[in-house]
Amino acid sequence: MATLMHKTSSERKVAPVHYWEAKYAATDRTWSGKPNQVLIDLASTLKPGRALDLGCGEGSDSIWLANLGWRVTGIDISATATARATAAVHDSGLSASRVEFVTQDLSTWHPVTTYGLITCCFLQSPVELEREAILSRAASAVAPGGHLLVVAHAAPPPWSNLAHGDHDFPTPEGDLAALAIDPSEWEILVSEVREREVTDPEGNPAVLLDSVVFLSRR
Ligand SMILES: C[S@@+](CC[C@H](N)C(=O)[O-])C[C@H]1O[C@@H](n2cnc3c(N)ncnc32)[C@H](O)[C@@H]1O
Repeated sequence: MATLMHKTSSERKVAPVHYWEAKYAATDRTWSGKPNQVLIDLASTLKPGRALDLGCGEGSDSIWLANLGWRVTGIDISATATARATAAVHDSGLSASRVEFVTQDLSTWHPVTTYGLITCCFLQSPVELEREAILSRAASAVAPGGHLLVVAHAAPPPWSNLAHGDHDFPTPEGDLAALAIDPSEWEILVSEVREREVTDPEGNPAVLLDSVVFLSRR
């Protein structure tokens, strides 16, 4: 599970691959190692098939899906992140045939097959990221009867000094617009901002806001 990053003006100019490699290289583990709760809440009862995890980070969502029986591909721009994800698969005892991790910049990614589930959890960045174009390509790769989950930080954490203008905070409406959803082709299962209870850096309870869009392709 990811938390939000600060964006400084100098960071905005850094090449995405350099930014993310430096971020992952700075610590042995960057995220919590737990799958995102919204994925658990929405995907637990889906019939497993092929899944794609865009911006998979250290692989916790992909591994959770693979343990449910999905055949998963996780893509991330950071080779350090995908190497950690691959090592986590090995450590978990999961068959390597159930989940693969690919190091790739999603700005140059074009799907070559379709998936029963595509997840895009917190694919947000303080540096350049063609998020809307990536979401649009992701939608095109969902198989009939398949699902698309898009989750994003909808507001700065209450403990941060980030302002809305310092970072992109997607809304469900904005993501639906980016996806150009045709109601005859898609059913909107969830489109809302959800509250998530967390512990702030001081150890106190806090609430984060997540934009959640969950679609089913007819
Ligand atoms: C906030 S993290 C979220 C990681 C994970 N999905 C999670 O929920 O814990 C954003 C991830 O997107 C990846 N990312 C950012 N820009 C990318 C790009 N252009 N192509 C592929 N991955 C990218 C980063 O390397 C990072 O792992």
